[in-house]
Amino acid sequence: MRTTGRYEVTSALGENVRAFVPSALPPQDPPLALNDDLAERVAKAEEALRLLNLAAAMVPDVDWFVYAFVRKEAVVSSQIEGTQATLVDLFAFEAEHTLGGARDVEEICNYLDAMRWARRQLSSAKGVPISVRLFNEAHKRLMKGVRGADKAGELRRTQNWIGGARPSDAVFVPPPPHLVGALLSDVEKYLHADDTLPPIVRAGLMHVQFETIHPYLDGNGRLGRLLVALLLEHWGLLTHPLLYLSLHFKRNREDYYRLLTAVRVRGDWEAWTRFFVDGVATIATEAATTAKELFALTTRDQARVLAADATSVSALRLFALLPRHPLINVAGVAALLQTTLPTASKAVQTLVDVGVLQETTGRKRDRTFAYTKYLERLRVGTELVPERSAAHGKRHRLHQGRR
Ligand SMILES: Nc1ncnc2c1ncn2[C@@H]1O[C@H](COP(=O)(O)OP(=O)(O)O)[C@@H](O)[C@H]1O
Ligand SMILES: [Mg+2]
Repeated sequence: MRTTGRYEVTSALGENVRAFVPSALPPQDPPLALNDDLAERVAKAEEALRLLNLAAAMVPDVDWFVYAFVRKEAVVSSQIEGTQATLVDLFAFEAEHTLGGARDVEEICNYLDAMRWARRQLSSAKGVPISVRLFNEAHKRLMKGVRGADKAGELRRTQNWIGGARPSDAVFVPPPPHLVGALLSDVEKYLHADDTLPPIVRAGLMHVQFETIHPYLDGNGRLGRLLVALLLEHWGLLTHPLLYLSLHFKRNREDYYRLLTAVRVRGDWEAWTRFFVDGVATIATEAATTAKELFALTTRDQARVLAADATSVSALRLFALLPRHPLINVAGVAALLQTTLPTASKAVQTLVDVGVLQETTGRKRDRTFAYTKYLERLRVGTELVPERSAAHGKRHRLHQGRR
């Protein structure tokens, strides 16, 4: 048991409550105990990341894995706190660009935009470095045009609380607003400081600290997870952002919240770190397997397209688009291939005939086609959780077109 912060009385909604003010990283008194067990788990996670990097290096076109896996991460991270959109919804939206009722998909597109922007900053010498400014700029993009967007990109100036209808029955009350800026600066400093802890562990510590500070009125979970992905790549543990770690948090959401709490109330950084690095190991292994399976699937299917009697250059070019556009319609294909509707239609038909594409709407017009086998494999874990999907049962079925 160690103390990880202090309490300060603050007022929220006219009530006096005790806000938690975390001590700066790294854990102290005592320092994080990287005993044999934990060190072994860290080594396992590092090895799993190495194998994921290897899988990425073996495929001829890693970009489409990046494309797909970043989308998977974006969807799952958004789902943790209730976004009601699935990976299939995202691809359907990207195929049709219909905004009707697509508010939740917008949140996911924002995540993609924030991630793209932040990666570009960190990969360029003149870009914004890991800093509070980077957090704010990424937050601005993450929250664009959605609920609470007026405060996008700004540290909160009011007292918030987590869980419970009123501050007095909150699960916890993050630090008072006047301390948020300084606390985040401490996080920034820690991320630039020398520390003997392995970078995976440090990324995990950062995440807890970020969630404990809860610097924004909303979007703290998504941004805090985005920062993990960003750091792992920035620190060279990942050659590409292929680790959809949020799936681990989504699957173990109770543990996720419980262990965040355990750091605050019992100073149990070790339990959190175990959970975090085990998650990295599990998801890295899954991601490597998924990448290999998707690669095998597309290689097999490409051979089928090549062997088809009616095959054509257009059909092959269309096939090459499918990993990025696993849901398509004829107009979209024509635009992407810069060809006519009849040529696009013929290419689609060829891929339907060889069993690569399936029509999903059952209609004669405005039809949508899916690379079903690919989607089925990629979307594992991205379905809505059962109690939520009940009310939205129709929304996440794969064999379904326009809503
Ligand atoms: N008990 C807790 N202690 C610390 N952080 C928590 C706790 N419970 C939830 N969180 C974090 O708060 C996030 C939700 O905060 P919020 O600002 O609504 O983020 P988002 O809008 O991205 O979901 C969760 O995803 C989690 O990361
Ligand atoms: Mg929220």
